[in-house]
This record gives sequence, structure tokens and C-alpha cells, in this order.
Amino acid sequence: MAYENLLLDVSDMIATVTINRPKSLNALNRATVTELSAVLHEIALRDDVGVVLLTGAGEKAFVAGADITEMRDFSPVQALSFALFGQGVLEFMERMPQPVIGVINGYALGGGCELAMACDILVAADNARLGQPEVNLGIIPGYGGTQRLARLVGRNLAKELVLTGEMISAQRAYEIGIVNRVVPPADLMAAAREIASKILSKGPVAVKMAKMAMNRGLDLDLGNACALEANAFAVVFSTEDRGEGMAAFLEKRKASFRGR
Ligand code: CAA
Repeated sequence: MAYENLLLDVSDMIATVTINRPKSLNALNRATVTELSAVLHEIALRDDVGVVLLTGAGEKAFVAGADITEMRDFSPVQALSFALFGQGVLEFMERMPQPVIGVINGYALGGGCELAMACDILVAADNARLGQPEVNLGIIPGYGGTQRLARLVGRNLAKELVLTGEMISAQRAYEIGIVNRVVPPADLMAAAREIASKILSKGPVAVKMAKMAMNRGLDLDLGNACALEANAFAVVFSTEDRGEGMAAFLEKRKASFRGR
């Protein structure tokens, strides 16, 4: 499928998705969120993708939020549809089999911060800034920001960010547990690829099942989450890779996984 608002590159089992509206700091309008949904669904079914890198075009922004030019004229009913649709796209990203690494190359604000928080791992440039500035516009986050941020950093820090609308640095986002790594801008893509390569060297089914158990489990009580984990644990024991991984360990050699 051809995309107008984003770029898709697939090589070496890595899909790089770049939100490509740099003139609007990659703001998410309806067309872009629709394409993001389509590309994630496409990738989810591709056997030649083991990890996704998600980033923004240009040097200034990952995503500066929902497109305010478009949102300005939303009726409450359109706002509801926009929020529900976007939330569904982010939920799908959490549920798709491949891990998604958010490559935060600049501003990640509003819907951009929410998109980042729905990624599995985040690497940020040291000049990136994150935040939920919706209250500055007289609105609130609509892509899960009032919920995921509190789950990530705790209720009070999340409230401070959402209620003041203040941006924080990548370093601060690292300190409070939003971001996994902070690197100079020139090293950003290499740092993300390094993590992707490590993941790609592991048992592919195990990686998918671990992502599923962790993302789904976080929404459950501990007992049901652990039951989910036990079932996923049993499923990976049905794979050839499990035999190879354990044999390689015992034979003191590198495992050669085949993803089945
Ligand atoms: N929507 C539409 N256009 C946007 C945009 C957005 N979210 N963010 C930036 N742009 C546009 C600007 O209007 C500007 O366009 P023009 O060149 O045509 O004037 C261009 O991108 C460059 O932006 P600035 O001139 O403002 O750049 P700056 O360096 O002075 O400031 C910024 C950068 C701090 C990120 C500032 O652009 C900004 O505050 N943007 C809005 C951030 C925001 O409020 N995001 C939340 C949106 S609401 C939301 O996301 C709801 C939700 O939960 C889903």
C-alpha cells in the first residue's frame, strides 16, 4: 500500500515507520492516524519484520500532537470518534506481535507523547522534549495520556505533567521511567538499531509471547496475569526454537533460531 503521510522501509527484519509531515512537526491528522493504523496492520502480518522502529521526519519533532488545525473545527462527536479511533490504533500497536521501539527524535507532545508511551521501548535524542500540553489548548489528552502516563510514572508525577501542561527534557523522562535511553541526536538511530538487533537475535516466538504477556498482563490482576504468563510459557515449549535454544546453551554455542 502507498502511504502519503508516512514512510515505510523494511530491511534486515526491521520495519522503520516515519511519520512524514515535518512542516506540521508530524502532527497527527485523521489521514495520518488512518495510515498509521494501516501500516501497523500491514506489518503485523508480515513475516519479514521482527521489530518496528517508529520515528518522525526531520530533526525537530517525533510528533507534536494531534493536528490542531484540523481539531479546531471538531464537534464533540467528531472529537469522540477521533479519540476512540486513535486509542484503538495505539492499543493495536501494543497488541501487534512485533516489539515497537519509539525513536524520539524531537518533540513528543500530546498525541505524540501518547504514541510514544504505547511503544514497547523508547530511545530519545538528548534534545527531545516530551509532554502533555493539551490543557494549554483548553482540552485534555485523548489518546490515553491520562491513563498510560500514570501507569508509567505514578499518579502524582502524571498529574503534574497533565495538569500543568509543562514539557520535560529527555533526561527527565529517562529519570522518571518514560524513556529507556537518551543519546546524542547523531547516535539515535544506531542506538535504536542496536536494541532491535539484540531482540532479533532471540527466539522470535518467545519475543512475541513475552510482549503479549507483558502488555496484556498489565491490564489484569496479578493472578490472571500470571495465568496468562503460564499459558504463554507452555506455548513457547511447543516451538522448535525452544529445543534449539536449550541445546545451544548446553552445547556452549550460539543458538540459531528459526521462528517456529
Ligand atoms: N498541530 C498542527 N500544527 C502544528 C502542531 C500541531 N500539534 N504543532 C506544530 N505545528 C505547526 C505550527 O503551527 C507551525 O506551522 P506554520 O509553520 O505553518 O506556522 C509549524 O508546525 C512549526 O511549529 P512552530 O512554529 O510552533 O515551532 P516552534 O519551534 O516555535 O514550537 C512546539 C514547537 C513547541 C512543538 C509548538 O509547535 C507547539 O507547542 N505545538 C503544539 C503542541 C501541542 O499542543 N500538542 C498537543 C495537541 S492536542 C493533542 O495531541 C490531543 C490528543 O491527546 C490526541
